[in-house]
Amino acid sequence: MADHAILSGKRVLLVIAGGIAAYKCLDLIRRLRERGVSVRAVLTAAGARFVTPLSVQALTENTVYQDLWSLTDESEMGHIQLSRAADLVVVAPATADLLARMAAGMADDLAATVLLATDKPVLVAPAMNVRMWLHPATQANMELLERRGVLRVGPNDGVMACNEFGPGRMAEPMEIIDAIAAHFAADKSTAHFAADKSAAPATADAAPKPLAGKRAIVTSGPTHEPIDPVRYIANRSSGKQGHAIAKALAQLGAAVTLVSGPTRLADPPGCTVVAIETAREMLAACEAALPADIAVCAAAVADWRVAGLSDRKLKKDGGGPPTLALTENPDILATLSQAGERRPALVVGFAAETGDVIAYATAKRARKGCDWIVANDVSLGTTTFGGADNTVHLIREGGVESWPTMGKDAVAARLADAIAERFRE
Ligand code: PMT
Repeated sequence: MADHAILSGKRVLLVIAGGIAAYKCLDLIRRLRERGVSVRAVLTAAGARFVTPLSVQALTENTVYQDLWSLTDESEMGHIQLSRAADLVVVAPATADLLARMAAGMADDLAATVLLATDKPVLVAPAMNVRMWLHPATQANMELLERRGVLRVGPNDGVMACNEFGPGRMAEPMEIIDAIAAHFAADKSTAHFAADKSAAPATADAAPKPLAGKRAIVTSGPTHEPIDPVRYIANRSSGKQGHAIAKALAQLGAAVTLVSGPTRLADPPGCTVVAIETAREMLAACEAALPADIAVCAAAVADWRVAGLSDRKLKKDGGGPPTLALTENPDILATLSQAGERRPALVVGFAAETGDVIAYATAKRARKGCDWIVANDVSLGTTTFGGADNTVHLIREGGVESWPTMGKDAVAARLADAIAERFRE
């Protein structure tokens, strides 16, 4: 349940674009108002086909802004002022069309103009047909917007109004409210714009960085455990989550050593990258990077390697398939967590689970001895391994925080903020 204390007194500018999910906005407005949030709304021409300005006005108890060229609206509150007189801009539903116009920096109606002119954080709740959401154009637009610091909640999987199934349903009003509350709780008024350093406002660079002077080790990607000179055992980790965390920590000023298994990703800016292949090489690289203040183990490390590695290519010799004997790999997270005097002050593990995610992850945190664990579901049918998004639960001594589905960059930015907060204490 979103915290009323966090939300009370906040000002949200709600941009309602044209999609069937627009009807949910009325419930969203009602619930925000119940929590003491003042809401102003911008309704696009297409949005007004799904909800009436009158309903929005009645629920917000404010003028509904619709027209870039309305003299009344401009004299009441010009579009620049409208874009700034809020603590957060929420776009719900965010249609494929509006996301494309935001990514392109267009200003062809009031909604797009306000989104271009705002200096406030923006949270989008995408809603569209599954094929439109999965289309490379929409995915590229969303990725670009997230790199610029735009926050996202959803979309969710489910049956859509068009009877297709898949991701594209707008997040439910309470999920949007949770995302809004989480944003305000983290008090990230400038940090979101700094998600892509090149897009950061000048003042963000000038501000002291909260992790300046801290050293961080991040593990990322898969390990490759050789069977013979040409074959290996691997897994589906792409390195997207770990690399994003390394980048986010570096952006907050940490000196980051990224120890990465084989990936196709570019090195994140500002990090020292150590490329490894096996779990044992990963452990050696992490130990060489000590001492450190922070360790985040996001790599998918093979638990086992082949015992009695063959130095010759295994041959089909008519005797049937070979039997591979496995032996246990060192556990890097557990080793760093139990490193005595050299233990980083904050050790964060990940837990990839396929059921009872929170319970298993909680047990894993205790077993390995790390401070925090980030749990994610990697069951069949999810795209946690390799995909662009992640849905995580942050498990700490004080309890469990479940975050809405976000791009991996946004998960990383939020985790880095939480780490910075921990060092502020
Ligand atoms: O790389 P992506 O495609 O972006 O996917 C991201 C991810 C799914 C890989 C990531 O979010 C994730 O969950 N990483 C941890 C994967 C994993 O191996 O989980 P686990 O539950 O098996 O391991 C628990 C923890 O122990 C992890 O922090 C892992 O790095 C660590 N570990 C595991 C085994 C080992 N020998 N050494 C370790 O350090």
